[in-house]
Amino acid sequence: MVDLKSQYYKIKDTVNNSIQEVLETNTYINGPQVHQFQKALEQYLDVKHVIPCANGTDALQIAMMGLDLKPGDEVITADFTFAATVEVIALLQLTPVLVDVDLYNMNISIEGIRKAITPKTKAIVPVHLFGRAANMEAIMAIAKEYNLYVIEDNAQAIGANCKFSDGTKKKAGTIGHVGATSFFPSKNLGCYGDGGAIFTNDDALAHKLRGIVNHGMYERYHHDVVGVNSRLDSIQAAVLNAKLPLLDLYGKARQDAARKYSIALDGHKNIIAPFICDICDCHVFHQYTLRIIAADRNGLMQHLLDKGIPCAIYYPIPLHSQKAYKDARYKEEDFPITNQLVTEVLSLPMHTELDDEQIKYITDSILEFLK
Ligand SMILES: Cc1ncc(COP(=O)(O)O)c(C=O)c1O
Repeated sequence: MVDLKSQYYKIKDTVNNSIQEVLETNTYINGPQVHQFQKALEQYLDVKHVIPCANGTDALQIAMMGLDLKPGDEVITADFTFAATVEVIALLQLTPVLVDVDLYNMNISIEGIRKAITPKTKAIVPVHLFGRAANMEAIMAIAKEYNLYVIEDNAQAIGANCKFSDGTKKKAGTIGHVGATSFFPSKNLGCYGDGGAIFTNDDALAHKLRGIVNHGMYERYHHDVVGVNSRLDSIQAAVLNAKLPLLDLYGKARQDAARKYSIALDGHKNIIAPFICDICDCHVFHQYTLRIIAADRNGLMQHLLDKGIPCAIYYPIPLHSQKAYKDARYKEEDFPITNQLVTEVLSLPMHTELDDEQIKYITDSILEFLK
């Protein structure tokens, strides 16, 4: 699905030099590379505080710990996402409340959020799924109306813009009270191991989060709050320092590939291609995900795999149907879109190194099967 090797060869000298510096200075934990990356990412995102941590799942967990949510508080999130989002809600003994998504962008349904709010609701976790920004303007308006926290799961959409009705744009992940991202190698900004970060514009919250990531310490061996050990190591920060200046270029390469896929496939009777917006960079194509309608999606997937084309179903099972997250309150009729999407979606290879020949081979192979 990704080609990290070809990407690495293009930036090999920068990455190698950056890693070499860590080895020479022997500062593997909290070294200057981590601080440099934190500052550079704050500038790129135009956010006051970036708190690096060990991975995207920790980033979500730490963000929720920082908001003082209490066991039993209800947290609304999307039914159609990777399990990490709901996992951390459950781990903190909060009550996950899954809601359906919208068909046109596969992101959390605004109407669904409104319907799910109860007196116990304390937070909403929108996920910018597959690289497309969720409707943050509407979500922030609901949050304000009901006095709720918004924690953005931005693991898949770093660099995407959210556009507001007054014409302004802000980076996904920086609009809610707190945002969380992942630097897993295949992500749009990926390191060469695990990594993550939390973003906020709130000074007091940032201070608290900086303690939580470091065993609750603000002063050495003084543990003021219950914390965790979650660090971005200096070697991963060195890789990220080499890649962050290329993030917008990488985003463009993904958008170009998406456009080429869509030119070849959109309009076919069995294919719904993702909507591509040419004006605001609201989709950075972490995944290029088709909907295959009234056709054998699984047969098409096997056909592509047989032809050596990687492809995948993200996600095959709705979270409300997963053993760990089943809840008697959920009814199947509450999730018509997620239940539909799990039968239709098919993600194609998507990365910064896709060339025209590969795209043609992939799209020809799809059309050969669907006719
Ligand atoms: C939507 C979403 N949230 C959270 C995560 C967790 O990130 P990590 O794998 O870095 O823990 C992922 C990772 O795939 C994700 O896709």
